[in-house]
Amino acid sequence: KGKRAFIAGVADDNGYGWAIAKSLAAAGAEILVGTWVPALNIFESSLRRGKFDGSRILPDGSMMEITKVYPLDAVFDNPDEVPEDIKTNKRYAGSSKWTVQEVAESVKEDFGSIDILVHSLANGPEVTKPLLETSRNGYLAAISASSYSYVSLLKHFLPILNPGGSSISLTYIASERIIPGYGGGMSSAKAALESDTRVLAFEAGRKRKIRVNTISAGPLRSRAAKAIGFIDMMIDYSLANAPLQKELSAEEVGNAAAFLASPLASAITGTVLYVDNGLNAMGVGV
Ligand code: NAI
Repeated sequence: KGKRAFIAGVADDNGYGWAIAKSLAAAGAEILVGTWVPALNIFESSLRRGKFDGSRILPDGSMMEITKVYPLDAVFDNPDEVPEDIKTNKRYAGSSKWTVQEVAESVKEDFGSIDILVHSLANGPEVTKPLLETSRNGYLAAISASSYSYVSLLKHFLPILNPGGSSISLTYIASERIIPGYGGGMSSAKAALESDTRVLAFEAGRKRKIRVNTISAGPLRSRAAKAIGFIDMMIDYSLANAPLQKELSAEEVGNAAAFLASPLASAITGTVLYVDNGLNAMGVGV
């Protein structure tokens, strides 16, 4: 039987979330996505108007279908936590049931269960500031949007994740090596995400036989990465220094995610899988 995947963090056709959706669709999965509320209108209208049709084409020539797009803001767990200024914000007012708990409830109502949960989102309002210049609020916001958002998603989706299922997030090597420019507490947030991957693998494994892994991806010119401002430099650095001297494609990360979600990876949990042309293995630039 075909598997069903929920991918949080898809708002255009450039990022890792989209590529993961495609690889999972190509492997026969049904695709549900969670889209950040402020980006929802433009994403849905672009989908409808066919703007993404070129990038929806799968290797067999068919088109990826997204069965349903859910509005999501992963920094809020339930309606009680949403502050007044967000509730009345006109970018949020047009949508409803977008907190993590409500989205999990809606998916349960609509489809009963899922097999694959993907977290492909991050946000750090002070990402361009060095850690020494990061405010407490900026740091906590990075952790909330980029790390706790995953704990919350897995917590709320766990009851509807079928045993044997798989959960995947995206991380970056700035968690363990110094990457100047990846600031605002984002390096800290990725370190938390990787540590949580191990603890959650234990808890979700024991509780529901769910595997939990994270992909440490190399640089990609996504919308989020362009906002950080150093992405071209990181791509050039990788081209010059990685064992494999080619630009990383989002599809290569998508395919690794499809592997991790498949029975081929049935004994793999709690791991950080590098999909970065091998750059992580270098000890020195060449
Ligand atoms: P992207 O821009 O395609 O994806 C980030 C998504 O997060 C966007 O769709 C955005 O709308 C969404 N988002 C932000 N705040 C949210 C919130 N509060 N609730 C729900 N959604 C929210 O960019 P990209 O780069 O594909 O990012 C996906 C993941 O890959 C992130 O975890 C990122 O840190 C990771 N990554 C990216 C690398 C890169 O070079 N692009 C390298 C390594 C990891």
